[in-house]
Amino acid sequence: MNPNSTLPEKSAPEVDFPIERVEAEHVSRREFTKFLCLVSGGMAVGSGWVAAKDRLFPEHRIQGEALVCDTSAVPLGGTYPFSVPGSKTPFMLIHLNDGSWRAYEQKCTHLSCAVFYDPQTDKIQCPCHNGWFDARTGIVLQGPPPRPLPRLEVVIKGEEVYVTETKPA
Ligand code: FES
Repeated sequence: MNPNSTLPEKSAPEVDFPIERVEAEHVSRREFTKFLCLVSGGMAVGSGWVAAKDRLFPEHRIQGEALVCDTSAVPLGGTYPFSVPGSKTPFMLIHLNDGSWRAYEQKCTHLSCAVFYDPQTDKIQCPCHNGWFDARTGIVLQGPPPRPLPRLEVVIKGEEVYVTETKPA
C-alpha cells in the first residue's frame, strides 16, 4: 500500500484495465443516433436494391412456350404454382371464375413477398403490407406496390396450359 495515497488500493485487474463499468456501458445519444442512421440507411439501400434488381435484371426469359400443367389440374377459382426452366422466379397460374386464365409472378412488386389469389374477390393480395392487385390485369388496386405484377401470356392447347413471354405493347 502506498502510504502517501488517500485512494483505496486497486486490485490487479482494475490497474491493468482502468475502465469504469458505468462509462463502458453508457451509450451516448450521438452514438445511438449514428447506430440508428446506419441501420436505417442499410435497410433503405437493401430495399432499393431489391426493387432495382427486379426491374433491371428480369430473371425469366422463356424461349417459345413452356408447358405448365393440364387444364384439369386447376379448377375454377384455383391456382397452380410453377416456375419456368432456367429461372428461380415463382409464378402462379390462375383459373379465374369466368373461365379465363392468367399467369403472374408470385412476387409482390413492393418488397417481393409472395402474393395470393383470392377467388372470393377476384383479386390478388400481398399480405405483407396489404397490397392488392387486379387478377385480370395485374395492376395495383391498393397499397404500396409501385408496379403491376409481371405477367406471362397463357396459351391453352387442347388439355394443356402453356405460358409465353408477354409481347411488348
Ligand atoms: S411486399 Fe407486398 S405490399 Fe409490401
